[in-house]
Amino acid sequence: MILKNLTLRQFRNHTHKNYLFSPSINEIVGRNGTGKTNLVEAIHLLCLARSWRTAENKKLIQKDKNEAYVGGEVEEGSLQRKIEVVLQKEGRVALVNGKPLAKLSQLSGLFNCVLFTPEDSLFFRDSPGVRRLFLDETLSRTSPAYLHNLRQFRHILQERNAALKERRDDALLETLTEQLILSEEPLVKERNLFLKRLIPVFQKTSQFLLGEERKVEFVYHPFLKEENFVQEARDFYQKSKERDYLLGSTQNGIHREDFEVSLERENAANFASQGEGRILSLALKISPSFLEEGDKKPVAILDDVFGELDKEHAKNLVRLLPKLGQCFITGTEEHIYQSHEIVMK
Ligand SMILES: Nc1ncnc2c1ncn2[C@@H]1O[C@H](COP(=O)(O)OP(=O)(O)O)[C@@H](O)[C@H]1O
Ligand SMILES: [Mg+2]
Repeated sequence: MILKNLTLRQFRNHTHKNYLFSPSINEIVGRNGTGKTNLVEAIHLLCLARSWRTAENKKLIQKDKNEAYVGGEVEEGSLQRKIEVVLQKEGRVALVNGKPLAKLSQLSGLFNCVLFTPEDSLFFRDSPGVRRLFLDETLSRTSPAYLHNLRQFRHILQERNAALKERRDDALLETLTEQLILSEEPLVKERNLFLKRLIPVFQKTSQFLLGEERKVEFVYHPFLKEENFVQEARDFYQKSKERDYLLGSTQNGIHREDFEVSLERENAANFASQGEGRILSLALKISPSFLEEGDKKPVAILDDVFGELDKEHAKNLVRLLPKLGQCFITGTEEHIYQSHEIVMK
C-alpha cells in the first residue's frame, strides 16, 4: 500500500498542510515540537481512525477549533482510495471515496500500517495485555475471520464472567463454557499458524539489527496445546470451575496467553539493555511487514526510532529500511541518504 498524499486541517499543530509522499522512504526531520509525531499520528489515524496517543478527539483537534480533518489517497496496486477522517468534539466519521462509513471498524484492511513508537521500547517489560493486543491487532488486520472470531470469543467470555459473578447456575455455566471453548479453538489455530510464520522472520530481523552473532529466541506461552484442544480445555475448565466461581471470572484461557523474547538465553524484559529492548521490540513491530509482499504490504511508521540507537545499530536499521514497504520515519537529524525529506519547521 502506498499513501500518495495527505491533507491536514486543524489537526494538532498543523493548521493547513498538504504533503506529497514518496512510495519508498519518507524522512520527516525537524526540531523537537515541530509536529513530526503529529504528522505520523495523522497517517496512522487513516488506518483505524484511532490514535495510539489518545482516545480523546479534543486532543487531536487544534486548540480552540471545533473540527479536525485528515485525508489521503491510498494506492493498492491498481486500486485507488480516498480515505478521510473528520474529528469533531462529539465524534468522528470516516469516509471512503467520499462515502461515510456506518462503522469506523469498516476502515480495517483498507489502509494498513506497522507502527513503532518510542513507548514500544518497554514492550517486553509491559503488561501481557499490551503484547496480546499487538498479536490480536496484527492478526485482525490481515484476517477478517480472526477479527470476527475474536469478537465472538470476547462476547462469550463476558457472558461467562457475568454468570460466574451471579448466583450458581451450573447448567448455564456449562453451556457458556462449551461455547467459550469452541470460540477459542479457531483463534488458537490462527495464532499458531501466524506465529509459525512470524517467529523466524522476527529472529532474522532482530539478528539483522543487533548482529548475526546474537542469540534471540521468541517463546510463546499458550493456554493449552493446539493438539486435542477441545477435550483438554473441557477438562481444564471443569477442574478450574470452583476457582473461577470464587474469583468471579474466567482465570485461564486464550485471553491470558503471553510471550517473551530472550537474548543470549536471558529474558529480554529483565536483562536486555534499554537500547537492546528497543531494537527487539522494533524488530517485532516491523516483522509483520515482511510477511506480506506486493500490494497489501503495510506502510511502516517509525517515530523517533534513531533516538538511543548507537551508530552501528542505526546503520543496520538504515540498511533494512528499503526492505519495508513505504516508510515514514521521524527524527531530529537526517539519517538516510536518498530519502524523500520532509522538513518540519
Ligand atoms: N490539539 C493541539 N492543538 C495545537 N497544538 C497541539 C495540539 N496537540 C499538540 N500540539 C502541539 O504539537 C507540538 C508537538 O508536536 P509533536 O508532533 O509531538 O512534536 P515532534 O516534532 O517533537 O514529534 C507541541 O508543541 C504541542 O503543543
Ligand atoms: Mg515526536
